[in-house]
Amino acid sequence: MCGISGIVHSENFGRSLLNSIKNLEYRGYDSCGVAVIQNGKIDLRKNIGGIDDVNLKERLDQMQGKIGIAHTRWATHGGVTQENAHPHLSANRKFAVVHNGIISNYQQLRERLLSEGVCFDSLTDTEVFVNLLEKSYTESNDLEQAFLAALQQIEGSFSIVMLSSHDPENLYCVKKESPLLLGLGEGCNYVGSDINAFLEYTRKAIVLDEGEYVILGPNEYQVRSLKTGKKLKKNVLHIDWDVETSKKGGFSHYMLKEIFDEPQTVRQAMQIPKEQIVALAEMFADSSRSYMMGVGTTYYVASISQYYFSALAECYYSALSSDEFSVVDIKQGDMVLAISQSGETYDTKTALVYAKECGAKTAAIVNVMGSAISMMADQVIMQGSGPEICVVSTKAALAQTFIMVRVALELGLIRRKIKQKDYKKFQNEMQEFSEIIEIVLNEQSGFVRNIARDTSHVEHWLFLGCGVYYPVAMESALKMKEVTYQHAEGMPAGFLKHGTLSMVESALHTLFFVPPPEQKELHKRTLIAMEQVKSRGGTVIAIIFQGDELAQKLAFQSINLPVVSSLFAPLLQMIIAQMFAYYAALDLGRNIDKPRNLGKSVTVG
Ligand code: AGP
Repeated sequence: MCGISGIVHSENFGRSLLNSIKNLEYRGYDSCGVAVIQNGKIDLRKNIGGIDDVNLKERLDQMQGKIGIAHTRWATHGGVTQENAHPHLSANRKFAVVHNGIISNYQQLRERLLSEGVCFDSLTDTEVFVNLLEKSYTESNDLEQAFLAALQQIEGSFSIVMLSSHDPENLYCVKKESPLLLGLGEGCNYVGSDINAFLEYTRKAIVLDEGEYVILGPNEYQVRSLKTGKKLKKNVLHIDWDVETSKKGGFSHYMLKEIFDEPQTVRQAMQIPKEQIVALAEMFADSSRSYMMGVGTTYYVASISQYYFSALAECYYSALSSDEFSVVDIKQGDMVLAISQSGETYDTKTALVYAKECGAKTAAIVNVMGSAISMMADQVIMQGSGPEICVVSTKAALAQTFIMVRVALELGLIRRKIKQKDYKKFQNEMQEFSEIIEIVLNEQSGFVRNIARDTSHVEHWLFLGCGVYYPVAMESALKMKEVTYQHAEGMPAGFLKHGTLSMVESALHTLFFVPPPEQKELHKRTLIAMEQVKSRGGTVIAIIFQGDELAQKLAFQSINLPVVSSLFAPLLQMIIAQMFAYYAALDLGRNIDKPRNLGKSVTVG
């Protein structure tokens, strides 16, 4: 996954392009580059490293011009080298291209071009394409024709933006499977792989659909179908995300800022019109079999939701990891819900395509407007959590879970499994939840930080919980791993004694997600596992609720949360675990917002 940006006619050009890829840096950050037309020639600067580092070396912010493209890369094919960084130039330096996705037949094309005498600087598929452009242009002497002719020769999934000194007024863009959007300004237009590329400059956006290409000038744009060549009329969306939400706002990292955004995120999830929530609940109710899927964190959101559906609506739905979804035998009449922050994750998108092909009804909960998944599903809930910049998902995951609780509650009502008076009580608790989060964040952060600091050296963790606290433990362990690079394994507390207990000794630390004592059965089972660890010399840290003296006694250290309804107790613990992972990573000096080897939305298989 990488970030693409292009601008036609902007004031303060170099700075604008640089800002634009900085806002995309969460999509990839191992190298970056910019190409602009200056005095009729393409000026290209690129290098390896994060955007600030590259800017220091190459002074991208001082590049002059009126039209240009930029890219921030997360290497998938070809190592992290200056040559492999984008943009790529054709041999005669008259074409520059940025590209996301994969050109699957590039090896054959590369060999053909090599045999025709073309020399390559890099090992990328992109450089093959830009040289195909040059060749095609020599034949037709027409830029649009050359663009289309080169596109006809490539296979795979891609979004591409081309700049050429043959036409210093327009960018040529195409979308196939990999996202691309236009931003419409005043006398200045933009293109980007997501709206963050231009959100600072305009709120008007056009989402390109499959197989569409665009010639984008400063005041006009033409979107056409690749297949028919016909000009297409497109809807202009108004993006209502707050630009400030995408800034760090005084926090040292986006991750912390986004954790502190959570009360607001929950309020926003509460604003989603009831009709949309009920419609999704009805879709579950009306389907013969229903599945929920996501991958990474969103798979855990689906897994947590299973417990809410069971508790509130007495329904059991399978939660599946999208990358494993194709093993399920989906039939007409089934229903599949996809959960995705970015709406672009390859595994989830592919699973959704498969579900549709099998004739299932589809639904999605998505954060990013105009994203592929949000355009594909039959029914969509936009979660409205605002931009989530940190690679590690926090506020988006919490909002998704909260929305799923709302759906489960409506389904409980539809299925007459909850009484009106309980429904009302739960609704009130929902209204109050954002304030509780605010209190907990403010009161607990210092305490969580101290424990995280004391234990940041720990290399192996077991995160344990029973019932719904089990997927919460799994999700929290994922958070810990991705941001601290330490090993953390999530597991049902009762599973421990079936093998993993043999690892327990003082260096192994456990984090227990202890339910409120009123959840008697779960509480009892969790405490049994705590005793098993403690009696074998393992170190027990626990997230508990105030007044739980039994759990407190068993724990070496505990984080005491205010008593909340059992409906929201797991979600509160999830937030604490996010903070815990953050402070541990801070103490270890990790690259918190951009952990190594990861990218924000994984658009490759
Ligand atoms: C979350 O912290 C992870 N970075 C990752 O597991 C993520 O949740 C997963 O890749 C799914 O992304 P999506 O929500 O954008 O589809």
